[in-house]
Amino acid sequence: MPNPTLLVTRRLPDAIEARAARDYDARLTACDTPMPDVVAQAAGAWGVVCCPGDKFDAALIGALPDSVKAIATFSVGYDHVDVAAAHARGIAVVNTPDVLSVATAECAMLLILAAARRAGEGERMIRADRWEGWAPTQLMGTLVSGRRLGIFGLGRIGRELAKMARGFGMQIHYHDVARLPPALEGDAVFHPTDATFLPVCDVLSLHAPGGAGTRHWLNAERIAALPRGAVVANAARGTLIDDIALIAALKSGHVAAAGLDVYDGEPQVNPGYRSVENAVLLPHLGSATTETRDAMGHLVLDGLDAVLAGRVPANLVR
Ligand code: DGY
Repeated sequence: MPNPTLLVTRRLPDAIEARAARDYDARLTACDTPMPDVVAQAAGAWGVVCCPGDKFDAALIGALPDSVKAIATFSVGYDHVDVAAAHARGIAVVNTPDVLSVATAECAMLLILAAARRAGEGERMIRADRWEGWAPTQLMGTLVSGRRLGIFGLGRIGRELAKMARGFGMQIHYHDVARLPPALEGDAVFHPTDATFLPVCDVLSLHAPGGAGTRHWLNAERIAALPRGAVVANAARGTLIDDIALIAALKSGHVAAAGLDVYDGEPQVNPGYRSVENAVLLPHLGSATTETRDAMGHLVLDGLDAVLAGRVPANLVR
């Protein structure tokens, strides 16, 4: 029997493309940007591998050929896939939980440190040949050690960040839909409401999923409830932040600095961020380590293999 056809919308790590080509009739691409004609390319395909920048909304899923039985997203986040529309067509959806938690938490820690210690400004100063030498008042930032870290969403990534932050002597606070069991919560302090959570966030790091329920969660009102001089980091989804409100707070100094890896409408970035020196801006590289991307790719293929074999994959999105 011929191998089932698998459409892959982006270039993947070599080892993953090799495995896909071994086990599937893989339609690979050298392209790093969204495939313009996914529906046409999926003709006769059994499965499709997509990425966070690929919008698999109800219209696109509705137009996929009947042959498509599985969609695998090369990401833990699946807010770009209309899962209900896929399920309505009997299409299984798999994602890549767990394997990127440490890498993404490292990125959040990087953003926190870089923002608090003004690393972006310093780097730009050297690159522009504007550095005149050490000076007692130059680029003074703020310590993160010993400060209070507020984590919005203490899931797998949030908990990895908490582990790292404890190494800096940070006190962990969190806000989530429900309190975690003691074994997962550790010494982190749960706040059931924004009212008690936000005022303790010397540093606020966002780790909630994207989607309608969290859209623009960090808005002007919540920013106003942060302590003056707070540091904000976002390695989760750009849609969590109302950019206009955050840019205004960065300009006023109410938020001392922000570190962002993700953007509402990315790869478009609100141009206001480019002119605020106290924003550190990364291009959605949270999971971008060789080990992590390989692990994500293997998990994608493990999930597809399981669907094909009639098993329930551990990474099935329900
Ligand atoms: C994800 O997996 O959702 C990230 O945003 C990309 O690694």
